[in-house]
Formats: sequence, structure tokens, C-alpha cells
Amino acid sequence: MTNAQKWMAAFLGLFLILFFLGTITKKDDVIETLSPQMMQQSQQNTSQHTDGFTLIKQSGCITCHGSNLQGSKMAPALTGLSEYWTREKLINYLRNPSSFGTDERFVEYKEKYKNVIMPSYNNIDVKDLGRMADYMLTK
Ligand code: HEC
Repeated sequence: MTNAQKWMAAFLGLFLILFFLGTITKKDDVIETLSPQMMQQSQQNTSQHTDGFTLIKQSGCITCHGSNLQGSKMAPALTGLSEYWTREKLINYLRNPSSFGTDERFVEYKEKYKNVIMPSYNNIDVKDLGRMADYMLTK
């Protein structure tokens, strides 16, 4: 190999190294721009960061109780509940609604929403039920 050829080879090698470094750092950039969003999303999905109303929406309560819990043909409004419920009792109710059917209010509900049954939510984490209860008690 002549000197000139050696230089050529050296430059070529250097060029290749730089090229690969370039692609690697580009990938890092992409990951960096994605990760804050991804972290935000995963935070939203953990119950720790989910507020009561979001949980209520996610649990399908609004299908029956209305998009703003204003009530519908299927279920009563969830407003002014603090008049009737403590936080504890409301959580217990959500876990087992059928055991709370004796109040005058509920006798009326049974008549008015004859074909709809308030489901029991004992599969939902009690902490999340607590967050939902907190929200409902402010409505
Ligand atoms: C399939 C329809 C349906 C769904 C879904 C539903 N409910 Fe109900 N809910 C009812 C009906 C009907 C009543 C009336 C009580 C009865 O008939 O026993 C009721 C009653 C209630 C009450 C008592 C209201 C009062 O005046 O004290 C609360 C609180 C309540 N629901 C909360 C929720 C929450 C929170 C969710 C979601 C986790 C939910 N409901 C999902 C139908 C539903």
C-alpha cells in the first residue's frame, strides 16, 4: 500500500465510524423525545394519579348515571349525595349495592328504574372507590 492509499483507508474507516455513531445518537434522540410522553401516559394509567371523576368515567358509571352524573332514564343523578352518605358508607354501597335497598329513596328507585340494577363494584380497589366517593360527595 502506498501512503496515499493508507490515508484513504484511514479516512474511510473514520467516515464509517462517524456514520455509525450518527445513527446511534439519532436513535437516542428519538427515545428521549418519546419518553416524557410515555411517562405521562403511564402515570395517567396508575390509580395514584387518577382523580375520582376519571375513575367514574373509566368504570362505566356514566353509561347509566349520565355523562356528568346528572342522571338518566336508567339511573338517578349522583348529586347531593353527602346528604345521605358518609364516605365509608358510600364505599360499602358501591361494593355491595343490593344490601342497601331498604331506604325510602331506594324503594322509589326500584320502582323508577325497574329494569336496571346498580352493579356491585367489589372488584375495584377500595382506594379507587374512595376517590370516586370523595368526588361524588362534592357534587
Ligand atoms: C347498569 C347501570 C348502572 C351503572 C353502570 C352504575 N349504576 Fe349506580 N345506580 C344504578 C341504579 C339503577 C341505581 C338506583 C339504585 C337501585 O335501583 O338500587 C343506582 C344507584 C347508585 C347510587 C345511589 C344513589 C343515591 O341516591 O344514593 C350511587 C352512589 C351509584 N349508583 C354510584 C355508581 C357508581 C360510582 C358507578 C360506577 C362505578 C355506578 N353507580 C354504575 C345504575 C347503575
